[in-house]
Amino acid sequence: MLPDNSLSPGEPIRLFHLSDIHFGLEDESALAWAKSCIAREKPHAVAITGDLTMRARHPEFAAATNWIKALDVPVTVEVGNHDIPYFNLYERFFAPYKRFHAIENMVEAKLHLPGLAIVPLKTTTRAQWQRFPWSNGWVTEKALAETLAAIDALPAGTRVLIAAHHPLTERRAKDGKLLTINGTRTMEVLAERKVMAVLSGHIHDAFDLTAETRRGPLRMIGAGTLSKRIRSTPPSFNEITIDGDRIKVVARNLEHVPTAAMQIDQVPENALPPREPDEPVAPVGAVPPVDPPVH
Ligand SMILES: [Fe+2]
Ligand SMILES: [Fe+2]
Repeated sequence: MLPDNSLSPGEPIRLFHLSDIHFGLEDESALAWAKSCIAREKPHAVAITGDLTMRARHPEFAAATNWIKALDVPVTVEVGNHDIPYFNLYERFFAPYKRFHAIENMVEAKLHLPGLAIVPLKTTTRAQWQRFPWSNGWVTEKALAETLAAIDALPAGTRVLIAAHHPLTERRAKDGKLLTINGTRTMEVLAERKVMAVLSGHIHDAFDLTAETRRGPLRMIGAGTLSKRIRSTPPSFNEITIDGDRIKVVARNLEHVPTAAMQIDQVPENALPPREPDEPVAPVGAVPPVDPPVH
């Protein structure tokens, strides 16, 4: 646990929520800017919701871990679908997190924030018998049980944020296509436990939506990307301020686009640029003319 002695109880907590850095296709100017914001403004913590690399290659992990280790604030990291070995199937199945060893103390790290817990929820799996490819989310029964046990073990009254890589939306709005397996039930039990919000990545556009579940509302906050693999917004990260039971989200970006113009109004299938007329596009509409390489 990383102590943060600069906070007193009741003081607003400032969190920088970064996601989808994708070393291998990183945006160097966006990364340098994000790093300088962190160094200058010293948020109380940084939460990174996965996809540190493009293909979990060793040089990509080396670059990602060097960048993260240089951040002089408490950091917690969630694993993304791009962070599991892609070419080495033996490692994918038997040691999927081995390449995180340089920052293993930051993976799903507990942060010492007064009255607030960031609880990890694994949505990334080594394989999915339901479908191929395996890039979308799946909340397994084991992953959900671990997250619920962690919530239930917290002192009464602790505010809870969930950190996951994939948004939990189970079905795409326009046609019901399956996105995150077991997402609906997960959202219901998290709403029932009154978590403040679910922080996620994977989409490469920012959003701040409230879903109505059968057990109450659930806020879903997505961060954009700091890579060149943009969807419909320039690279960004979220500045999140937690003040009592309120959360304020600002989608910060080098282009100074206002937050409302950066956020999409529904959860799309993936991070690919929108090419169909009914896919969600952020008001800023920064869709690349040519799809970025996936490699
Ligand atoms: Fe990603
Ligand atoms: Fe992803």
